[in-house]
Amino acid sequence: MQVLSVASEVYPLVKTGGLADVAGALPLALKSHGVSVKTLMPGYPGVMARLKDAKRVLSLPDLLGASADVLEVEHEGLDLLIFDCPIFFDRPGGPYLDTAGKDHADNWRRFAALAKAGAIIAQQGLEDGWRPDIAHVHDWQAAMLPSYMRYAEAPEIPTLITIHNIAFQGTFSASIFPHLGLPIHAFSVDGIEYFGGIGFLKAGLQHSWAISTVSPSYAEEILTPEYGMGLEGLLKWRAADMTGIVNGIDATVWNPETDPLIAAHYGASSLKVRAENRKAVAERFGLIQDDGPIFCVVSRLTWQKGMDLLAEEIDNLVALGGKLAVLGSGDPLLETTFSAAAGRHPGSVSVLTAYDEPLSHLMQAGCDAILIPSRFEPCGLTQLYGLRYGCVPVVARTGGLNDTVIDASPAGLAAKAATGVSFGPVTSDNLGRAIRRAVRLYKDPKVWTAMQKQGMKSDVSWENSAGLYAALYSDLHARKGT
Ligand code: ADP
Ligand code: GLC
Repeated sequence: MQVLSVASEVYPLVKTGGLADVAGALPLALKSHGVSVKTLMPGYPGVMARLKDAKRVLSLPDLLGASADVLEVEHEGLDLLIFDCPIFFDRPGGPYLDTAGKDHADNWRRFAALAKAGAIIAQQGLEDGWRPDIAHVHDWQAAMLPSYMRYAEAPEIPTLITIHNIAFQGTFSASIFPHLGLPIHAFSVDGIEYFGGIGFLKAGLQHSWAISTVSPSYAEEILTPEYGMGLEGLLKWRAADMTGIVNGIDATVWNPETDPLIAAHYGASSLKVRAENRKAVAERFGLIQDDGPIFCVVSRLTWQKGMDLLAEEIDNLVALGGKLAVLGSGDPLLETTFSAAAGRHPGSVSVLTAYDEPLSHLMQAGCDAILIPSRFEPCGLTQLYGLRYGCVPVVARTGGLNDTVIDASPAGLAAKAATGVSFGPVTSDNLGRAIRRAVRLYKDPKVWTAMQKQGMKSDVSWENSAGLYAALYSDLHARKGT
């Protein structure tokens, strides 16, 4: 089975969040299921600079007014197709934001072009004759691919769209329509039109053969107005083609027994060694080391992640004897609020407003618990890293957090199944209660160690979920012939 995957970020070349981790790890996990994946991604400057021995496999001289090439390159086990389109991607700033932190004004054109290049590869193949059996697109940035195929002359290949976060929909003014290179009838309610404008994610959900999201709970949640963010009606109509497959983690990159980014290696049977990582984290953040638990946050600082709720509970957390190490950036107001809390509690609260991949590993290896009070969470990866590293997750009971963490309820503890603390509904009071519960559990080392060990035993690898994707691809492939 040959799959064309299309994503706007892929670890280890470019990452702003969990999408990159998934787009980088799933293809590796699919290999043992007989699935070969080529991943199409934009040639951002940081990506182009790291390419070695890339070979041109397709020329696209006129793609939405731009000239582009597709380059093929192997990178750390991934087979990548780089969309080399300098006019859209060779510029300063991040994948989506300019240097001032604003959306690139032509994001619609940049990602429509990426999707159109994907559609051309899907329908016509590469110059060397390679053709995919399935196109798998991720999030709104790639979501126009199925629509470009639908309105082209050539036959379609089966498509799967994965929703990583329905809060980001790629909606634009109707005025861009004439520049998308689509027939006039595409601007309709059963096409790419969305509330009078244009919706890239809507288009993908309309035209993909199948839809998946990154956890079973989130697949149910987004059928409701509270979580569906305007797309719940369309999703309900497509419900028979929809499924939830929980993310895994790359267990070679995230392995406390071998991780080169942590201070000391350990496993479930040598948890005592963890203390060395704890010491390293405490020193790095300037935290007092005593018998209170060190909580951490490794996150975008946003409303989705419930960071405002945590800000309200910091003083209580400190009063309980807890420490807090925060690594994250995002909403400027939240950054200021967290920095102010650090100022109030020197030695107990410390905040690093940065994106620091190596430090995120050390924090999972050294902190006692990771706080994830998200208002919604399609899957979440940091709780999975926490489970694997014995950093006990304290999570909101929503989406993928709900599907991956077993609460330390009396029943969970009695069955020796508990792997963390979960709470809901998501309010600051309930978060406060969960923190109090975690501190109490931490004070009983036998119970806490049992929870850490149970978490480290949880299957957070891609193995099972990669099998589910492989089965879905096979079903879609079989549907092609019907
Ligand atoms: P989302 O994609 O919604 O941000 P996920 O939990 O799925 O949430 O993935 C976030 C990813 O980004 C994880 O790999 C996490 O470790 C990483 N991450 C988030 N913030 C930071 C940061 N400030 N520094 C380093 N890594 C971070
Ligand atoms: C999104 C979601 C997150 C998920 C990630 C990878 O960024 O917010 O919950 O883990 O995608 O699927």
